[in-house]
Amino acid sequence: ETKTNLSVTVVGASGDLAKKKIFPALFALFYEGCLPQNFTIFGYARTKMTDEELREMISRTLTCRIDKRENCGDKMEEFLERCFYHSGQYGSEENFAELDTKLKQKEGGKLSNRLFYLSIPPDIFVDVVRCASERASSKTGWTRVIVEKPFGRDSESSGELTRSLKKYLAEEQIFRIDHYLGKELVENLSVLRFSNLVFEPLWSRNYIRSVQFIFSEDFGTEGRGGYFNNYGIIRDIMQNHLLQILALFAMETPVSLDAEDIRNEKVKVLRSMRQLKLEDVVVGQYKGHSKGGKTFLGYTEDPTVPNDSITPTFAAAALFIDNARWDGVPFLMKAGKALNTRRAEIRVQFRHVPGNLYKRNFGTDMDKATNELVLRVQPNEAIFLKINNKIPGLGMRLDRSDLNLLYSMRYPKEIPDAYERLLLDAIEGERRLFIRSDELDAAWSIFTPLLKELESNKIAPELYPYGSRGPVGAHYLAAKYNARWGDLAGDD
Ligand code: BG6
Repeated sequence: ETKTNLSVTVVGASGDLAKKKIFPALFALFYEGCLPQNFTIFGYARTKMTDEELREMISRTLTCRIDKRENCGDKMEEFLERCFYHSGQYGSEENFAELDTKLKQKEGGKLSNRLFYLSIPPDIFVDVVRCASERASSKTGWTRVIVEKPFGRDSESSGELTRSLKKYLAEEQIFRIDHYLGKELVENLSVLRFSNLVFEPLWSRNYIRSVQFIFSEDFGTEGRGGYFNNYGIIRDIMQNHLLQILALFAMETPVSLDAEDIRNEKVKVLRSMRQLKLEDVVVGQYKGHSKGGKTFLGYTEDPTVPNDSITPTFAAAALFIDNARWDGVPFLMKAGKALNTRRAEIRVQFRHVPGNLYKRNFGTDMDKATNELVLRVQPNEAIFLKINNKIPGLGMRLDRSDLNLLYSMRYPKEIPDAYERLLLDAIEGERRLFIRSDELDAAWSIFTPLLKELESNKIAPELYPYGSRGPVGAHYLAAKYNARWGDLAGDD
């Protein structure tokens, strides 16, 4: 432990993600005592900056957990003293060689492990990987690289990126992050399924009528239009975050909890999925809207977005898994920006109770009386199961109630950010929550034909007002498969 040194270099240190997520997550790990005794953090970017200026920049975003306030200031000072900066070009081997010299000084001859976090635009991924691996990789310990999406924009460009990265790195060195996999409730999904008797036996077409993966944000692409317009919501959220959750939800039981066993099952289920068809997709785009004296700009009114953009900011889709377990079950996905609420959840809708004895005691329609299991990923993490229950009293009336697990009540300790979990795993070499390249290929295969069709046929998105519930087309899509969006029932 004392003979090794860990250095983490955040490439793209002055960017938004670095400031908002990566440095704060590193600090949290330090505070929790999860970083090795000898560690060094380097920021790398083109901007000219001194170590002091970097520290000043980082210190503005560091926070301490509510339950960890004492010593917080001292801990921050200690942490900041280990942070340094090197300014360089992203494609310059020379500049990375300079970084290597500085890293060596800090490492002081100890065995050194080096982690590079690429928080940079995709067009410079490969340059940075080339320079870092050729000029700044560790000679004595491991060298790992964390990359963030976008991993290409379709099967071909993603394959190309993978091949280029593999010229300089082995697959075990590449940690493809999908930060949704680091979220507490997503990690818990497998625990819920595989360590409770009551769920797994129901986990199939025999009892489940539809599964829904829902992502909504109550803000638009403000300021990120430049990136977003080239990708759209399907690539930004569905092909990665929601599909990853789907894979964990639907995979068969892995042989063990080892990363390769889990990822083998995820690839299998992804490869059993049908390619998405245009008729099973609804796309939308938000338009300007005034509410309570405030005006919210439409997507195309954003100065960084072309006026005639048809990039979807909303999409709903019905996906299918052609295997024995899931044959015929619609997996509905919905993702959108500038909607009425911010949330991410998984909803499992169960079938009707056959020959229900209590049919006539339901006030509402029977269709609403089926069980539903909800995993609310955020905000206010929760798991609840909707059940039918007798309303107490002399009569026999039923209503819908919830068996509720509210995290804030059961586990009042603050939940670590997804980036903390993932950074720690990368440091420890735990690959379970990172995306293997064959998974990525399988994920792109499902979406690529559809994306091409949307773009080549210039399919116009259905407009929806900023802050609304999204396009009505999404309801028709669910109805086509005999489902209703659970999040719109307004009962939780
Ligand atoms: C990112 C997307 O991957 O996830 C963003 O690019 C989105 O568009 C973000 O806002 C949502 O993450 P979170 O953790 O805030 O739900």
